[in-house]
Amino acid sequence: MKVIQVENPAAGGKVALDLLRQKLAAGASTLGLATGSSPLDFYRELIASELDTSHLVSVNLDEYVGLDGQDPQSYQYFMQDKLFAHKPFKASFLPNGKASDLQAEVERYNQVLADYPVDLQILGIGRNGHIGFNEPGTSFESQTHLVDLASSTIEANARFFERLEDVPTQALSMGIANIMQAKSIILFAYGQAKAQAIRGMVQGPITEELPASVLQKHPDVVLIGDQAALSLLD
Ligand code: GLP
Repeated sequence: MKVIQVENPAAGGKVALDLLRQKLAAGASTLGLATGSSPLDFYRELIASELDTSHLVSVNLDEYVGLDGQDPQSYQYFMQDKLFAHKPFKASFLPNGKASDLQAEVERYNQVLADYPVDLQILGIGRNGHIGFNEPGTSFESQTHLVDLASSTIEANARFFERLEDVPTQALSMGIANIMQAKSIILFAYGQAKAQAIRGMVQGPITEELPASVLQKHPDVVLIGDQAALSLLD
């Protein structure tokens, strides 16, 4: 795993844009995208760049169950607002959190991932080490699945909602095995709240109790973080 310390998220976005340029030059055509605050500066850099995304496909990590794309808290809305409205892709896929048959939706999404293998996956990390919405205890063999969110995740994400009760308790998420299939991965982590998870991810034992630790087994991961997030690394 390559670790790059940056001054702040804005600098991290620039570093990631350079990495994206290299991957595109090498033929990358499908990007795995993430929500949350961590990738925002990367999306800003991408929007401000001259890069043409109209020939690229994007697949997102996850979506809340019960929210449709018009809901400002949905990840579909987030992606539209923060990226796709400014840089349209050839096709963009997210799990449908309003699907009437969630099991069928899980299967559809796994087929999307089989049809569009991810060249470069963007990740953030939860305070408990989750990636996507793969909470501690999720099997490393998991494919797209329905998730019961950990109470710590619900609390962490409550800041985007008016009331704690409004935060969905379930999500559809790519599995760990799906994420590991990406050819290359960039993970962003900023702030002290992520330091413990980052230590476990980089130096801890590889364990399903800290989902991101699986990334130690991936051949091409770049961790981009600020001093606070990297502060517990030796
Ligand atoms: C959510 C998302 C994750 C994201 C995490 C961290 O749980 N499902 O994909 O990595 O939040 O969010 P942030 O980057 O805002 O800290």
